[in-house]
Amino acid sequence: MKFFIDTANLAQIKEANDLGILDGVTTNPSLMAKEGINGADNILKHYEAICEIVDGDVSAEVLSTDFASIIEEGKKLAAIHPNIVVKVPMIKDGVKAIKWFTDNGIKTNCTLVFSAGQAILAAKAGASYVSPFIGRIDDSSWDGVELIAQISQIYSLQGFKTEILAASIRNALHIVKCAEVGADVCTCPLDSILGLLKHPLTDIGLAKFLEDAKKL
Ligand code: E4P
Repeated sequence: MKFFIDTANLAQIKEANDLGILDGVTTNPSLMAKEGINGADNILKHYEAICEIVDGDVSAEVLSTDFASIIEEGKKLAAIHPNIVVKVPMIKDGVKAIKWFTDNGIKTNCTLVFSAGQAILAAKAGASYVSPFIGRIDDSSWDGVELIAQISQIYSLQGFKTEILAASIRNALHIVKCAEVGADVCTCPLDSILGLLKHPLTDIGLAKFLEDAKKL
């Protein structure tokens, strides 16, 4: 399973990259706004900066919602760097645009996916990645990990090549559960990635080893 970091914060992207386990980055308009990035030029420059840090796929989301504008915007994003993946919402014009990008050799990430039906449509259009938002599904009292399992079973039965990118991850357990049910990628906040490190028995065991090492 690949690990992406879900942020536009350059310091956090560097920290995760330095761990040596990072395969890519996802962003969205809310994450860019949180970093105070605004204006078309600054947005493009910020994606460039991310691509300079990480040698892996970087999802850059379009802000347009009609076919012609999504294509125009997606082409500009894809021209920034070969690792840019154009992130397109799961709407009618978005599906049409994903098919166009696929036919024209541009990688895509179909975002805002909340059902197996939407995931089938994204795969039929040829999306490189499909992003089910598991944390937001959990928030509405449904089971986000269950959706990942369902999509994984469907893609494997049907031979779809689209990679399942579990998004809206809220904690380390989400990552473990997504790995169990066949997610190809988890995109996680830095805290959830670092949460995987933690176990009290590791801390207790290390303290004892260091204490005993003084006797050597
Ligand atoms: C990433 O691709 C998604 O945009 C992101 O994971 C959404 O996360 P949130 O539900 O925490 O906003």
